[in-house]
Amino acid sequence: MSNESNKTSSNVVWHHATVTRARREAQNDHRGAIIWFTGLSGAGKSTLAHAVEEALHQRDCRTFVMDGDNVRHGLCGDLGFSNEDREENIRRVGEVAKLFTEAGILVLTAFISPFRSDRARVRGMAQHGDFIEIYCNSSIDICERRDVKGLYKKARSGQLAEFTGISSPYEVPQNPELVVNTGELELEECVKLVLSELVNRGII
Ligand code: ADX
Repeated sequence: MSNESNKTSSNVVWHHATVTRARREAQNDHRGAIIWFTGLSGAGKSTLAHAVEEALHQRDCRTFVMDGDNVRHGLCGDLGFSNEDREENIRRVGEVAKLFTEAGILVLTAFISPFRSDRARVRGMAQHGDFIEIYCNSSIDICERRDVKGLYKKARSGQLAEFTGISSPYEVPQNPELVVNTGELELEECVKLVLSELVNRGII
């Protein structure tokens, strides 16, 4: 067999839809986009993503939240927390999020996504302007004090390896579309900041 025929997904031809993204967006009356929340565990990414989704839904927007803890039960259930597995986690989530944008949907993703290169890859996969990176900025002290899931305690006591911020790195975004100080602001204020960003960018 030639190398070409050994390749995964060879002999696959793209099928063009007649119901295009533009038609779906016109029907929805808003653009599709990836609203990508990144930050430490416990920084409030999921809480903020769901609160923003609630506000968008009330405005009749088509939305969907993809959340680290949920996705790791299914689509990414085979992945752990090594650097390689996190990279694959974000790659898969990025691919799915891109499909959502093609469906004209506002997809809100809540993943630690600790590596700049992985976030940059998703940005690069998306059409220009479709990827809105939102850094949920909360110091590790605050996350650790909250410790909603008790994971910081486990990580400190050595029961949980490769834990972000303790035994695995988090690379702070250098040029995100928005920084939200989730560690200090009230949830409602955070939601307002995200919504204004989406309005200013002509997404909603
Ligand atoms: S990511 O690094 O690949 O983006 P993801 O957001 O999917 O991570 O999953 C993070 C969630 O998994 C955390 O909120 C936490 O509940 C749980 N978790 C379990 N083990 C770890 C770990 N070693 N590091 C970080 N999060 C962990």
